[in-house]
Amino acid sequence: MENTIEQIREDALAELANASSVDEIKALSVKYVGRKGRITLFLRNISSLPKELRPSAGQEANLIKQLVEERIKEALQRIEGSDLNSTDYIDVSLPGRAAIPGILHPISQINQQISNIFKRLGFDIAEGPEIETDYYNFEALNFPKNHPARDMQDTFFVSDDIVLRTHTSPLQIRIMEKKHPPIRVIMPGKVYRCDSDLTHTPMFHQVEGLVVDKNIGFSDLKGVLTTLVHQIFDEEISLRFRPSFFPFTEPSAEVDILCVICRGKGCRVCSQTGWLEVLGSGMVHPAVFENVNYDTSQYSGFAFGMGVERIAMLKYGIDDLRKFFENDFRFLRQF
Ligand code: PHE
Repeated sequence: MENTIEQIREDALAELANASSVDEIKALSVKYVGRKGRITLFLRNISSLPKELRPSAGQEANLIKQLVEERIKEALQRIEGSDLNSTDYIDVSLPGRAAIPGILHPISQINQQISNIFKRLGFDIAEGPEIETDYYNFEALNFPKNHPARDMQDTFFVSDDIVLRTHTSPLQIRIMEKKHPPIRVIMPGKVYRCDSDLTHTPMFHQVEGLVVDKNIGFSDLKGVLTTLVHQIFDEEISLRFRPSFFPFTEPSAEVDILCVICRGKGCRVCSQTGWLEVLGSGMVHPAVFENVNYDTSQYSGFAFGMGVERIAMLKYGIDDLRKFFENDFRFLRQF
């Protein structure tokens, strides 16, 4: 009799050790501890044993039943992987996870490209604060207080007198306060406007440019900006200079590029005009020179400011500006 329960124990443990699927283990559970399982039947038959053997046989059979039930639980845990602490279950044959190499954001790439073009043309590069005073953002640039031109610049105010700069033009003033002509400088940076749709985001990037020297004329402005556009896109790209207004330049011109998405036919990106504005520009206004004590009888100059996102959209044919700021790696890794 004891041999028999010993035998059942050995069979059960051996079979459980070899079981490799949940189904197999469940079948073994039925086979040994189910309603008609070998251990269950053994326990049921104990009453037919001689009286003096019954207590020890019952005790042993119950211990074996417990043991087998425990082993069944362990085997299930092992296979279902629920015992995550156990080191037995690391699959050393899995391929390793490669680190994904970073790339420069497309806006940084365009910024670098613009900087390189201007470096070759002999320009310096300067930067300045994103939190500006009313004086540098507006007043010194010939936007008097309460002048309607301020409305164009959907401003984020920090306080009455402090703003998030709405353009990089305040750097024109900061540079001219510190340096004497000749000046040839570009000033890249972030700017902020309270505006958000398909072609506007509350933060975007501009590159400002400023040239001041003797005998600088509108032809110099046209030459530099045409070179820039041709180097960023290609020699064939059409551009037009459209009369415009900025308080700090006179005359002023906006530079448009033929819409590369619709090729001039009209689409939602170019608001059906066929052209996309990429630059504001003009000859530095005498009032601005006076604010930095430059002698207007000696010096003249031109300035321009361009939207980096606009240029990236045109160059890569992207129709939604917001994609640049969603940080979706599937989008960003294409550049
Ligand atoms: N600062 C102007 C803007 O953001 C652009 C500009 C810069 C216009 C320099 C003329 C000269 O709209």
